[in-house]
Amino acid sequence: MKESIIVDTKNKKNTISRDIYGHFSEHLGHCIYGGFWVGKDSNIPNIHGYNKAVVQAFKELDIPNLRWPGGLFADEYHWKDGIGPKENRKRMVNTNWGGVTEDNSFGTHEFFGLCDELGCKPYICGNVGSGTVQEMDEWIEYMTFSGESPMSKLRAANGRKEPWKLDYFGVGNENWGGGGNMRPEFYADQYRRYQTFVRQYGENKIFKIAGGANVDDYNWTKVLMENAHWLMDGLSLHYYTYEYRWEEKKSATGFTKEGWYRIMRNAFRMDELIRRHSEIMDKYDPAKRVAMVVDEWGNWFAPKEGTNPGFLEQDNSVCDALVAGITLNIFNNHSDRVHVANLAQAVNVLQSPVLTQGDKIVLTPTWHVLHQYKGHQGATLLGTSAAYSYCGVNDVPDYNASLRGVSAKEDVIVPGLSVSASEKDADSKSGAKKQYLVTVANVDAETSKEIEISFAHLEGAIKSATATVVTGEKMDTINSFENGDAVTEKSLSVKIIDKQTVSINLGAYSVAAITVLA
Ligand code: AHR
Repeated sequence: MKESIIVDTKNKKNTISRDIYGHFSEHLGHCIYGGFWVGKDSNIPNIHGYNKAVVQAFKELDIPNLRWPGGLFADEYHWKDGIGPKENRKRMVNTNWGGVTEDNSFGTHEFFGLCDELGCKPYICGNVGSGTVQEMDEWIEYMTFSGESPMSKLRAANGRKEPWKLDYFGVGNENWGGGGNMRPEFYADQYRRYQTFVRQYGENKIFKIAGGANVDDYNWTKVLMENAHWLMDGLSLHYYTYEYRWEEKKSATGFTKEGWYRIMRNAFRMDELIRRHSEIMDKYDPAKRVAMVVDEWGNWFAPKEGTNPGFLEQDNSVCDALVAGITLNIFNNHSDRVHVANLAQAVNVLQSPVLTQGDKIVLTPTWHVLHQYKGHQGATLLGTSAAYSYCGVNDVPDYNASLRGVSAKEDVIVPGLSVSASEKDADSKSGAKKQYLVTVANVDAETSKEIEISFAHLEGAIKSATATVVTGEKMDTINSFENGDAVTEKSLSVKIIDKQTVSINLGAYSVAAITVLA
């Protein structure tokens, strides 16, 4: 099957914010403890307590920012419990995630230390659901105030004289649900009040993020924008992909072809959600000053058998690679509004790029796609258009209808390709002027595709073209501790057809990254 993509090299859009490629680390299962943090006395190779291999894996992705401490955990977190001598730190119950005891040994100092090791921006989420305004006010003072004050003295007494640079601060999390079950009108007022005390001390400019909508709750976005848009820098959106019903999650592997297309359809839904929330934001903020911050996204499947269901552990397969490829293309293509995004979650939880087991580490198919796409960070988005066939399954039971007691059939049809493209100045040593990165996902479960990629209005001619592909033997092939390399980036052959066109043959369920120098 022949498909074609046109990359318009004259249609230069906005810069793709690096922060779209951000990650999320919650006190949940083994994301922090046993994931990023093993402790200084561990036998596992570590740098000041941080798992060395995990840090290295994220540095290789050029991780731009890390969100912490939640998630739902954030609205139960009291930061003063996580500072000072470890033996004095208060223990608490992590009510959201498995009811385990949280000993608070990883707190504010440890988080900033982790961001230093990773070389990324900190994104902290504050407690609105069960915390006070004073608590939030003091946390900001503790982290960012350089003069003499009660909180800066406390920070110094705990071993840190200089303030930290805090880039992003979220004023609560999912306040429509686990963060307080608030109505949008009430949260909008709470946001206005709490954010007042997120002070901008000295040079530190905190980017304030209001807690946004769940999936397609457009009214939430409307009310928040109407009542507080001038007081926020970003508004969040949470959307997880699953097979067909949130309440009845399916396993991360073993799905049918029909299941595959349902997951893909849900992944493409991100595009509609961003478009429709953006339309509302545009009404109040036509200049697009307020960023859309998709600070939780990814696949959410049933917990892996034999694990604590509260730890949200799941396998990561070729299917996750495709969902990552599609979603990141969507973010790139909407990067005029989407400036920050965080994959849920970084290590051992949901759609993780990295899994650990003691001193063992697995780089998942998702990690490999993030690696393929990292060249988009900070590059200029180019306009693309594509002519492709659709794929899917016909006449399958409609689950939504069956929930209403009706027996009906439906077609689950999705676009066969997902694409985005960007441009950067080429390395001067290459002799080329520009470097183009085109990322393409072939969503088809069965058919490989001959894809021609034309670089319209190209100045000069293509000098070289290389490509990688991420795929596996089957749609649900995973990387496991027994076989960590079942799904990795392999080189893919690219033909230069003429001075502005290349072509690739992309197998079913594959993600490709094509780099062209011209
Ligand atoms: O990422 C897991 C959870 O999903 C987060 O804690 C919460 O914000 C969301 O519901």
